[in-house]
Amino acid sequence: MGQFDLRKSGIHALVGLIIGLLLLVAVVDNLSSQTEASFTDYLTQSSELNLLFLLIVGIPALSGILIGGALSRTRQLRRRVHELAQERDKLIETKAVTQVKTQELQGLLDQESGFFVNNWDQLVTEKDNLREEAEISSALVRVALTIGSLAGTGDVLEMLRNALPAALFADACLTFEWSEAEKAFIGSNSPNVKLKPRSVKAIDRIRKERKPISIESVETDELLPAKLRGSLGAKSAILIPCVSRDEVTAIAMVLYSTASHKFSDRDIQIASGIVSQAQIVFENAHLYEDILESRNELQRLLTRLASSQEDERRRISRDLHDGVIQNLSGIIFSLNFLSNALGDEDENAKKEVAQLEEIVHDTITDLRKVIYDLRPTILDSLGLVPTLEKHLESFGEANNITIDYNPKMKERLAESVETGLFRLAQETLNNIKKHAQAKTVSLELKKKKNEVVMVIKDDGVGFDMDEIKKRASQDSGFGLSGMNERVQSLSGTVKIVSKPGEGTRVMVTVPCQAKGA
Ligand SMILES: Nc1ncnc2c1ncn2[C@@H]1O[C@H](COP(=O)(O)OP(=O)(O)O)[C@@H](O)[C@H]1O
Ligand SMILES: [Mg+2]
Repeated sequence: MGQFDLRKSGIHALVGLIIGLLLLVAVVDNLSSQTEASFTDYLTQSSELNLLFLLIVGIPALSGILIGGALSRTRQLRRRVHELAQERDKLIETKAVTQVKTQELQGLLDQESGFFVNNWDQLVTEKDNLREEAEISSALVRVALTIGSLAGTGDVLEMLRNALPAALFADACLTFEWSEAEKAFIGSNSPNVKLKPRSVKAIDRIRKERKPISIESVETDELLPAKLRGSLGAKSAILIPCVSRDEVTAIAMVLYSTASHKFSDRDIQIASGIVSQAQIVFENAHLYEDILESRNELQRLLTRLASSQEDERRRISRDLHDGVIQNLSGIIFSLNFLSNALGDEDENAKKEVAQLEEIVHDTITDLRKVIYDLRPTILDSLGLVPTLEKHLESFGEANNITIDYNPKMKERLAESVETGLFRLAQETLNNIKKHAQAKTVSLELKKKKNEVVMVIKDDGVGFDMDEIKKRASQDSGFGLSGMNERVQSLSGTVKIVSKPGEGTRVMVTVPCQAKGA
């Protein structure tokens, strides 16, 4: 658009040139007829005529170019005007459509604004409700998030004191925890406030019904005693029970002090929802107490088992010593007598008697070993330190192992501790004999504060503790678990460190009780 059309201008220039030439021929022809010179002569003779020639040919040619350009420009302009006219028509059309739409929108807007005007109050209430919902939800989310990290019932009650006023738009919350000793609910932050079921009707009712109680007018409601009503300084209150194992273990008392409050079902639902989450922690606390109780019970049983085992061993060894060994000694004495009574001629009979005597001797030796294994009498008479010394000595001799015994204490300990430590040492040494292939064994015994520490080390083949734990559920491995039980019965610990090729170290630590404790 608006560009100079070279091709069309060229055509116009050519037409102009032809017209100029025709004019020139006409003029020169006319002039030559007047002067009677030939046409070519005329042209070649006169220089003015050359100028005339130029003018007559040049001007039409130039005019042709200009006219061509002007015509092409005019055509372009005409086309543009036509296009603009079309666009204007379109715009007029669009404007009409827009007007219709605008009218429709205006109608709608009128309708909507009518709705807003008519329902303004309702909308404001809805907005407030939404904000309340958001606050309640965020309070509930906070409760849900914190509940997992709460360890004890004290933490839970504190959480309730913060969360309940936020979720119920109240001013404060007091919590009370049941005390079995006092038979009353004791104020968490004010232990002097005691709500007894007999003197506070609300407490009596909440313990029976285990449901929230709402009190719209604290000042007049008889559910709370007059003295308490005065001291609370509240207009309305709601009491929510925290129930665990069918018993109300705590109460949250939510207070409205600035204005009295009409309680809705929703208020009660929200309060109960929050408290029921707290109940989980109460339940866990009870479960934890149960676990502790069963652990203590287990420990008591293990102690009783260990001590009755020892009693039984002691009784059997005494019976063997006082009964069987005495009888066998009596038999030796009789055999001796019989042998002397036999004459020289009864050589064979004498041999038999001598053999019998030997057998009975061996039996007595074996029996003494059994008696020692059952319960070394030295343990009762002299105590742990010399018993271990004697035991290690015979262990080293029997198994060709060098012993390094290093007791750093002399005093006697409670019988259960001495027996327990001796049995633990016995089991450890049995394992060394059975599995370790050790050359040296050391045993350290010392007192550290209120504990006795016994460390037994060997330089044997060692073992992989994890492997043994895996195997323990199968057939063998009762020795190590038995050691664990025995240590538990003494409220102590046992630590076994071992690696293949690096020997084994068994460390036993038990609380030290003096003899007679
Ligand atoms: N001092 C030790 N040296 C090497 N291995 C040991 C030692 N003490 C225990 N073990 C390994 O631990 C396993 C478990 O021991 P234990 O519970 O006493 O069962 P048991 O002696 O009846 O095999 C043993 O089978 C042995 O492989
Ligand atoms: Mg063993």
